[in-house]
Formats: sequence, C-alpha cells, structure tokens
Amino acid sequence: MAEPDYSRGAACIDGQFMPVGEARIPITDWGYRRSDVTYDVVGVWGGAFFRLDDHIRRFRASMQSLRMEPAESDDDIRAILTRCVQLSGLREAYVAMDCLRGRPLPGKPYHPVFARNYIAAYAIPWVWVASPEMQQRGAHLVVAKTPRIATESVDPTVKNFHWGDLTRGLFEAYDQGADFAVLPDADGNLTEGPGFNVFIVRDGAVATPDRGALEGVTRASVLELCAELGLPCAVRPVSMDEVREADEIFLTTTAGGIMPASRIDGRIMNNDRPGPVSARLRECFWQKRAEGWHATPIDYAAL
Ligand SMILES: Cc1ncc(COP(=O)(O)O)c(C=O)c1O
Repeated sequence: MAEPDYSRGAACIDGQFMPVGEARIPITDWGYRRSDVTYDVVGVWGGAFFRLDDHIRRFRASMQSLRMEPAESDDDIRAILTRCVQLSGLREAYVAMDCLRGRPLPGKPYHPVFARNYIAAYAIPWVWVASPEMQQRGAHLVVAKTPRIATESVDPTVKNFHWGDLTRGLFEAYDQGADFAVLPDADGNLTEGPGFNVFIVRDGAVATPDRGALEGVTRASVLELCAELGLPCAVRPVSMDEVREADEIFLTTTAGGIMPASRIDGRIMNNDRPGPVSARLRECFWQKRAEGWHATPIDYAAL
C-alpha cells in the first residue's frame, strides 16, 4: 500500500486520521442536514499555534451551549489538532475543529438528545479571508440590507454554520463590486460580517460591538493591543451611522488577522488606503506574532 499523502493537509474524523482529501462525513449526519454543529478555527503561523487555549476554551463553551458531549477531553482535542498539523508538516496552517451532532442511535427516538456527538478536525494550508494585496489597498465594504439573524434565535457567541445571512451579505457586496458586507441587527446596530468582527475608528478612538457578534479571538488580541499602545477602545453598541461615517474601519479574524478597509458603501476613507490606526495595529499584531506572542510551538519531529 502507498504511504498516505498528507501534502494537502491532514484530517481526523471521529478518531481516524487521513489525508484531508479523503475525509468524509455521513450524508445522514445532522451536523450536515440540520447545521447541528459547532466549530472553531485556530491559526498556525511560523510553526506555532496562536492562542490555542483560547480557541479550545471557546470551542468547549460552544459545545456546552449546544449540549454536545463528545468523548474527547480538551487535552485530547489539543493532541488531535497537533497531530493533524504534524502530519501535514505545514508551518502556516488553517486548523479547524468541528463537533457534529451525529444522528440518533439505532432504535432511539428521532431527537438530538439521543445522538452520539463526535469531533472532526483538519489542518490545511493557510487561508486568507482577505488576500495580502487586498489588505494593502484596504477592503471595500458595503452595509448589508440583510440583517444578522436574531441573537435570540442563533447565539452568535456560539460559533456556527448558520451562514445564510452572511452569505447573502457576500452576494450583496459582490453585486455592488465590493469585497465584503457588514451586517446590522434589527435595531440598526453593527454586528459582524462573513467570518470577521468589525471595528471602527473615530477621532482616534476605537470601538467594536458589545453584542450580536462572535467574541473573536483576534478581537480579543486587538483589545490587548489597544491597551498596550494606549489607544482608547470601547466595547459598546455601534450604530450603522457611526460605521458609515467612520474615519477608519478594520475587520478581524483568525484567517487574516487585522484587515483594514478603505471604502464603505462607495465612500473613500483615508485616500483609499488603510487608515493610520488600522495600519499601526496590523503592523504591531504581526510583529508581536513573529516574536512568539501567545504562541504554542509545534514539535514536528515528535510525530
Ligand atoms: C461570524 C464570525 N465572526 C467573527 C469571527 C472572528 O473570530 P476569530 O478572530 O476568533 O477568528 C469569525 C471567524 O471565523 C466568524 O466566523
């Protein structure tokens, strides 16, 4: 038998490791059929995880909120993710962990409480939500007409695949020749966008929503950086009018870091380039990452 080829990434489905191209989930799984799944994504940069414990903590909280109880402990999950990266050999990787509902066990009632929940994970080459070129010029944003799904229906702090509204937002942006949409809530306040948190800068003060959004790990890093750099930063309701009139806007996500914007609804900010506060935060973020900030190095030889 030929050696498995992990060059495109490695996966682990319910305890079994395999090349990522061979990873499958059953078509009858409620994780797929009902989007009854939660997930998290941690980045590997320069051969080290970034804020691994924070991602695993949020993943566990998401699972508990959805009443999912896979057999794996946090240490088991850490070991699975590490092994996926080791197998792939990737120094820069996008590392996903999912917990799927499964489906009710044979002979049991057709109810999620009777399902056996399990973990799927994979490591693939690093993914940029916004390419480095787009980050240089600044992303072009639109304010979506589609509001974010109500938090009373789907808790946005539980990382989920209910992406119908976010995907609609992406098509709204596409139809207007823009890159991304930012979504309001029903009260006209900013929430987040497809795969990222949103920050505004006005008169040198930074702000990001206190509700309606995932508590992003990159967002937490920005809050730390602002404190360190002495930049005023508030976590509070942010109205869409503030977004439309902001001096600067930037987006944050694991698969991209701090991504400056340069246009909102066609209005040009900062001469069509990233603003000074966004650029400073982005530079500082990657500088500190290169110095090992919140890093968990991976021992590739220990496979
Ligand atoms: C909807 C949504 N908001 C925000 C984020 C950013 O979170 P993090 O910085 O932890 O990657 C993500 C990341 O995938 C996301 O999907």
